Amino acid sequence: MKIKYEYSKAEIKKKINTNWAGKSLFFFDSTESTNEVATKLGKSGEVHGTLVVADGQSKGKGRRGRSWSSPFGKDIYMTLLLRPCCKLESVSTLTLVMALSVMEAVSEVVSVQTLIKWPNDIVLNGKKLCGILTEMYLEPDNSFFIVIGAGINCNQTDFIEEISNNATSLFLEEQKYIDRAKLIGSIMSCFERNYEVFEKTQDLSELYQKYNKFLVNAGREVRVLDPAGEYNAVAEGINKSGELIVHRIDNGEAVTVYAGEVSVRGIYGYV
Ligand code: BTN
Repeated sequence: MKIKYEYSKAEIKKKINTNWAGKSLFFFDSTESTNEVATKLGKSGEVHGTLVVADGQSKGKGRRGRSWSSPFGKDIYMTLLLRPCCKLESVSTLTLVMALSVMEAVSEVVSVQTLIKWPNDIVLNGKKLCGILTEMYLEPDNSFFIVIGAGINCNQTDFIEEISNNATSLFLEEQKYIDRAKLIGSIMSCFERNYEVFEKTQDLSELYQKYNKFLVNAGREVRVLDPAGEYNAVAEGINKSGELIVHRIDNGEAVTVYAGEVSVRGIYGYV
């Protein structure tokens, strides 16, 4: 029997026990895209750690100009606004910090071990469970903020045709109805802890080993989609900057792959 958990601003607030992450909370029954809302809030001066959550999105955005299917009342659509005190070049690394935090929170709340597909997809039983989209906004005075949006498939059972072979949800894999407010609370706690470690070192030097432990690509063959020429390689793991180290199959050369420049596709299906 399905248990319906309450999902409202008050309920999510109750589950967030952090110092700053998600302390300022905006909740919408439906909006176009939580990333868009968070960007508007960023421009109007909302604080570091502001969280935007919606129960449905009419224009959910995915990476590489794709859309993100966002049916009402089932999954998590949330965006965190950050005003990071790190160099502009390190900002993309925070996407990996969010991926790590979602993985840890799912393990804590649902008791299931997910894996990370570099740089920032969360995978369960070989299918995509969560996607993350980070966007940056440069202010006229050269300061900047970023918004990190995460879409987590929680209670969805029917996926649209384009993604039905590659996507899954926690409900489908675990046959458990997911308390989304509780999961958001846990993600905020994990993110706050990991972010503070990142802030101290300004890189992933104290986090990359934990990330690599759950990297689904490790030791697997990948296709590197380098605009200068695609090639096959075996992935090793990420370094302290969040780049993926791969070994080319054609010449054995070790190459450092930067997420903004190239993407990696699994040779055998999605992972
Ligand atoms: C991907 O393509 O893998 C990234 C998907 C990111 C989707 C989330 S849902 C919440 C936030 N709002 C958006 O419009 N997109 C992100």
